[in-house]
Amino acid sequence: MVDKPDAKPLQITEGRVELDDVHFGYDPDREILRGVSLVVPGGQTVAIVGATGSGKSTIGRLLFRFYDVTEGALRIDGQDVRDVTQESLHAAIGVVPQDTVLFNDTIRYNIAYGREGATQAEIEEAAKAAQIHDFITSLPEGYETKVGERGLKLSGGEKQRVGIARTLLKNPPILLLDEATSALDTDTEQDIKDALARAGEGRTVITIAHRLSTIAEADQIVVLEKGEIIERGTHDELLRREGRYAQLWNRQQSDTQAA
Ligand SMILES: Nc1ncnc2c1ncn2[C@@H]1O[C@H](COP(=O)(O)OP(=O)(O)O)[C@@H](O)[C@H]1O
Ligand SMILES: [Mg+2]
Repeated sequence: MVDKPDAKPLQITEGRVELDDVHFGYDPDREILRGVSLVVPGGQTVAIVGATGSGKSTIGRLLFRFYDVTEGALRIDGQDVRDVTQESLHAAIGVVPQDTVLFNDTIRYNIAYGREGATQAEIEEAAKAAQIHDFITSLPEGYETKVGERGLKLSGGEKQRVGIARTLLKNPPILLLDEATSALDTDTEQDIKDALARAGEGRTVITIAHRLSTIAEADQIVVLEKGEIIERGTHDELLRREGRYAQLWNRQQSDTQAA
């Protein structure tokens, strides 16, 4: 993707994200998103749920403008993502992916990577918000502990906390969580859920989740099926509807009880 010659920096006012009848396919003969419309008011949390392959992660890739929509538009605070500089676009969006990749370096470096020139105080503040500061200071070498393949092996949950701290340091107005807790066991997931809830305060959050228990409190939940939104509402509204979401919820509840 190249910036338009007259591309301007994205101006964030409230962090409102809008998908306006978005159509998209990686290949021209196979449409993946088939007319998706969605408004996330600034500061609110939307959860996107649906089966594997329904197009959830694709929405995140379009937001980042790794690809352009084939029809419709994607706007942030009224600005089409195709009209703004990619540098400003990428600076506005923080991502916590399914697995945080750690560098073979210190914990400090791994968090500081979120923003060039961050001070130790800022790094610690991000680590506290991600609920990993106490763990770090309990290590003999603290923030100077080497991690990664050739250093201390962190658990999945600890790695995700480092990833959250890294993203918080960037302080983006928009947060994209793509299956951020899917690789974790249920207990760890509950812990990380709290860290993510704190991370989302005062930001617009788009969360993609497989386990519905992590997104029940979202302001809005949309169910994506084969590239179309088939249901939307709050958790309670969708349960009362007794449709697809309720079906997924009930199935996951009985799986949890069986486990
Ligand atoms: N780079 C790509 N090229 C071609 N097809 C892709 C690419 N990435 C994803 N897809 C296809 O697009 C569909 C939606 O993918 P994705 O958005 O990742 O789904 P989800 O996150 O809901 O599991 C899938 O059928 C997937 O195979
Ligand atoms: Mg995905």
